[in-house]
Amino acid sequence: MTAQIIDGKAVAASLRARLADLVPGFTEQAGRAPGLAVVLVGEDPASHVYVRSKGRATREAGMESFEHRLGADASEGAQMNEAAVIAAIDPAKDVDGFHVINAGRLAAGLPGLVPCTPLGCLALLKDRLGSLAGLHALVIGRSNIVGKPMAQLLLGESATVTIAHSRTRDLPQLVGQADIVVAAVGRPEMIRGEWLKPGATVIDVGINRVPGEGGKDRLVGDVHFASAVEVAGAITPVPGGVGPMTIAMLLRNTFAAAHARAGIAQPAEL
Ligand SMILES: NC(=O)c1ccc[n+]([C@@H]2O[C@H](COP(=O)([O-])OP(=O)(O)OC[C@H]3O[C@@H](n4cnc5c(N)ncnc54)[C@H](OP(=O)(O)O)[C@@H]3O)[C@@H](O)[C@H]2O)c1
Repeated sequence: MTAQIIDGKAVAASLRARLADLVPGFTEQAGRAPGLAVVLVGEDPASHVYVRSKGRATREAGMESFEHRLGADASEGAQMNEAAVIAAIDPAKDVDGFHVINAGRLAAGLPGLVPCTPLGCLALLKDRLGSLAGLHALVIGRSNIVGKPMAQLLLGESATVTIAHSRTRDLPQLVGQADIVVAAVGRPEMIRGEWLKPGATVIDVGINRVPGEGGKDRLVGDVHFASAVEVAGAITPVPGGVGPMTIAMLLRNTFAAAHARAGIAQPAEL
């Protein structure tokens, strides 16, 4: 079997195009465009690239982009504390969906802002499989930004969900039972094709830089693509799979939050 390649880039492009069509309607009704503000601390080059591409995507969708850059020596008294920074965000503007209020809403099955990467993975899964009810989904990784919200979203779709992590025993055996595998581990090519159930749908969240030919780095996922593509029914590539969906979902969350805050009903097609 050779798996179908799930084209995240194409799905993301069509979502961004739909948003670009819908934004002028909001701007007219609300009297202003939706806006996305990013606060960037320090000089990490990868973060700068990411923030620049967020800004470009925001403007292309007809939204306003704001960037606040702070030096690496910026402090909130002592060292930056991730939990304190997240807690300072208004949950209604928390388009990354990291605030405990939004995490709690997701866990309780209530509407709220959901982290962009798992939201993008879910969109790809539903696009490919339709209903996920009763399917066995294995989420590998339990971070607050990917693994945990991914598992909650899958549960919300009535999948039977297993969460694996670094202490999990016999991961290959669990992978072999899963109809859906979402890999969010951060370990290059760890999940092997031989472990997969034939026909499984594989979503590879991992973005890992490894040495490539000619001294240049290349990007690989957490799944060993060459072996997995022989066994899976469908698989996301790295790059071009989950990554583009994350930014598209960030724009969608921004659009949704702007509607909620302005008291305007969101268009049904999103
Ligand atoms: N495509 C995108 O837009 C996007 C967005 C976010 C992240 N990512 C990528 O996705 C990956 C995961 O990100 P993250 O932020 O969730 O990472 P993270 O916070 O480092 O979490 C990694 C998770 O993997 C688990 N793990 C580590 N080694 C394992 C092993 N040998 N077997 C099973 N589980 C293991 C860890 O378990 P413990 O909890 O037990 O330590 C942890 O829960 C990274 O490659 C990251 O770059 C991509």
